[in-house]
Amino acid sequence: MIRLRALLFVAALLPCSFAAAAPGKAAIASAHKLATEAGFDVLAAGGNAFDAAVAVSAALSVVEPQSSGIGGGAFFLVHRAKDGKQVLVDARETAPAATDAKAYLDANGELDRDKSVNGGLAAGIPGEPAALVWVAQHYGRLPLKQSLAPAIRLARDGFAPDARSLMRIGQRKDVIARDAGASALFLPGGEVPGAGWVLKNPDLARTLELIAERGHKGFYEGEFAEKLVAGVKKAGGNWSREDLAAYAVREREPIVFQYRGHKVVTAPPPSSGGIALAEMLNILQGYDLTRLDRVERTHLVVEAMRRAYRDRAEYLGDPDFVKMPVAELTSPLYAAGLRASIHPKKATPSDSLPGYMAPVQGTDTTHFSIIDADGNLAAVTQTVNLPFGAAVVVPGTGFVLNNEMDDFALKAGAPNAYGLVGADANAPRPGHRPLSSMTPTFVIGPERTLVIGTPGGSRIITMVLEGILAWFDGDAPQQLVDNKRFHHQYLPDVISTEKDAFTPAERKALQAMGHVLSEGEQPWGFMNAVDWNRKTGELRGGSDSRGVSGTALVR
Ligand code: GLY
Repeated sequence: MIRLRALLFVAALLPCSFAAAAPGKAAIASAHKLATEAGFDVLAAGGNAFDAAVAVSAALSVVEPQSSGIGGGAFFLVHRAKDGKQVLVDARETAPAATDAKAYLDANGELDRDKSVNGGLAAGIPGEPAALVWVAQHYGRLPLKQSLAPAIRLARDGFAPDARSLMRIGQRKDVIARDAGASALFLPGGEVPGAGWVLKNPDLARTLELIAERGHKGFYEGEFAEKLVAGVKKAGGNWSREDLAAYAVREREPIVFQYRGHKVVTAPPPSSGGIALAEMLNILQGYDLTRLDRVERTHLVVEAMRRAYRDRAEYLGDPDFVKMPVAELTSPLYAAGLRASIHPKKATPSDSLPGYMAPVQGTDTTHFSIIDADGNLAAVTQTVNLPFGAAVVVPGTGFVLNNEMDDFALKAGAPNAYGLVGADANAPRPGHRPLSSMTPTFVIGPERTLVIGTPGGSRIITMVLEGILAWFDGDAPQQLVDNKRFHHQYLPDVISTEKDAFTPAERKALQAMGHVLSEGEQPWGFMNAVDWNRKTGELRGGSDSRGVSGTALVR
């Protein structure tokens, strides 16, 4: 009798648990309304989160060409609800076989910044097209053709680039003007276009169609590959057909760790993001942050950032070639040792923790987050590095080439564009993937799930950290993406902050602890996050108000 009653009790709970196993609706947050809508179009056609991810990714390539695109790379973090599979599809660019670190030096043996960020030599072999094909084939439900259709339409029919895109064209005008293909596309009549200008890109529509019809080979082999190789050579680079034919995405096991009873699933190398995030959250796990005032808490968070950023440059590189102490760096025991080195009231000078600095990655990246009606999750960060990448468009292709070669430590001991030096683990070598900061992340707890990420160069990782901490404090996605931000990256030994991130009294108290603060005028990042409360069934999204076209929708 008791057993029967227990069974009836469990049966009464079942519908509720089943309801909680899937949200029934979907949430998408991306940097552009047209991209978010492209994702929903594909969901409405019967697609899942991964088809939607392909659609959003490709649409962003069209409508946000300064940030990411077919000529760049991406990390697709995937959680498949039906079997719990979690994987990072690594579509990071690779260095061509002809890579020679000396080619980036000037006559005096100094790093020539112009070569590492502008023109053909700056570009790695793109990974984004391979990712679109791979994700659609291995995780999607729809044919690639269907998921790419919204992006193809946008490229062919045109759209009005937003104020952010136009501002970026203005910033890179001089470099764009050096390249006939890039200026034909982005400088109509030789000038930075004004508001209301409609960008039609039939070449990009045709490139996407080629990928839709011929898959991976459409881009990486045959006539199209030949056209790319010739165009890159003309622009000063040195790709070969073999480089393109050899490109393949890698499926990597994510970095997984526990934080306050939740599973954090995040990007492994060649991202430095997941390891640094694990190190920081493992350190902070030892404190009850909720009991601390804002100054005490900021001090501890900054000390965690300082220690994680020191390690990331010293040890990390392409996992296909570099042996890394990943288990050690992400271990709670290691974090406990680091925590013990933190004085509760005094800043640790960075020069007392010797190490290297990683190159600071370019900020014109983009991130989108998706939860679908079945509970599948996709967190995708993709990039061409600096705005409009290398500012080279091979005629007839419709997309900019990345300038991801600058994410390598191009000259050991020499500062990169941001005045920072890097270690041998991330030296430029043929076939290697440069170290990245991109940190697409899931936080999965017994009741709630968060999907989060952002652009922002080397600040990506601390932004994701602050977003996660705010979520644990109870912030909704819209709040946590809008919060003011601060950042410390070991060197320079400074807490950089957005304007008004701290009150004058808080600044003074942090300075009294030995911290140096530097407040900037420019906002940072363009975070897009969604969450799902399995208890209430609620889905929410937030798109950073710093971006003019960002759109989070739940339907
Ligand atoms: N290029 C930006 C990053 O990979 O972090």
